[in-house]
Amino acid sequence: MDKDDRIYVAGHRGLVGSALVRRLEQSGHKNLILRTSAELDLRDQVATCAFFESIRPEYVLIAAAKVGGIQANNIYPADFIYDNLIIETNIIHESWRVGVKKLLFLGSSCIYPRLAAQPIRESALLTGELEPTNEPYAIAKIAGIKLCQSYNRQYGTNFISVMPTNLYGRGDNFDLENSHVLPAMIRKFHDAKTSRAPFVMLWGTGSPRREFLYVDDMADACVFLMTRHDGSQIVNIGTGTDITIRELAETVGRVVGYEGDVVWDSSKLDGMPQKLLDVSLLHGMGWRHSVELEDGIRKTYAAFLG
Ligand SMILES: NC(=O)c1ccc[n+]([C@@H]2O[C@H](COP(=O)([O-])OP(=O)(O)OC[C@H]3O[C@@H](n4cnc5c(N)ncnc54)[C@H](OP(=O)(O)O)[C@@H]3O)[C@@H](O)[C@H]2O)c1
Repeated sequence: MDKDDRIYVAGHRGLVGSALVRRLEQSGHKNLILRTSAELDLRDQVATCAFFESIRPEYVLIAAAKVGGIQANNIYPADFIYDNLIIETNIIHESWRVGVKKLLFLGSSCIYPRLAAQPIRESALLTGELEPTNEPYAIAKIAGIKLCQSYNRQYGTNFISVMPTNLYGRGDNFDLENSHVLPAMIRKFHDAKTSRAPFVMLWGTGSPRREFLYVDDMADACVFLMTRHDGSQIVNIGTGTDITIRELAETVGRVVGYEGDVVWDSSKLDGMPQKLLDVSLLHGMGWRHSVELEDGIRKTYAAFLG
């Protein structure tokens, strides 16, 4: 990607999209094309078609999606499958139609089977049953990968797909209604600290193992792959290490400075027992993360405090 190429970052106000914009601006890309969902609803096929015809981007990064935690996925499964299917279909099809040189599609680690061997290799895709709590979302993401691969095969496009692990960082959603586990913990520990609550109630048993990647590292990996990777092989993006949710709670509590107790509400769903990506493909290409978890949580808490 040259410095003056037209690069469309779809979803530029989100956690990932805003990090992509920061990373691209940092390396001197000045011709970024950005639209909010109010300016361009990517579910609208006619509007998306008109946008691509008039702007004709050369590169496209898809960070626009309907995203949420276990609770939101459980309550709004129709929205999660419909919005994600239609957003990615509209963007990928229009990108092919106007001759986009390269496109990056963001999948998610939830595309892999619930009981996939850990750490999860890219080859585990479609080898078993998905986690039921976010199956509609995962099916939409798998369709996005297959769209990219099918356009590559039939039309010779260069649409790449990446599978990030759980992300967190500046720009995260701290709203308890639909946030992911790490920002939800920051919010809960912070609120408990300021209200001097004797304990914090967290969901599940604390035993599942999860991997977390700081979002600026994720954006760096995406830009790296836009220059170093071509074609249909999907690529995992993560740190290659995981911790239990209980250990995560200890780390967040330490960073926030909360000294009360943690109570686990085991009536709430745990989700997959472990989710750790095998990142040997990415490491083999020469990319590694640079922000360690506690440091990343400090940065995220600082951003939360504003
Ligand atoms: N967060 C994670 O832990 C994580 C992990 C793995 C993969 N991912 C993937 O990364 C991508 C981005 O996730 P995120 O966490 O950055 O999500 P996010 O913070 O919720 O941001 C999503 C963005 O999508 C845009 N959007 C949603 N519906 C739209 C529509 N109908 N038309 C146009 N734009 C629309 C929103 O734009 P407006 O702000 O303008 O409304 C928003 O900025 C997703 O594909 C997700 O699967 C995320």
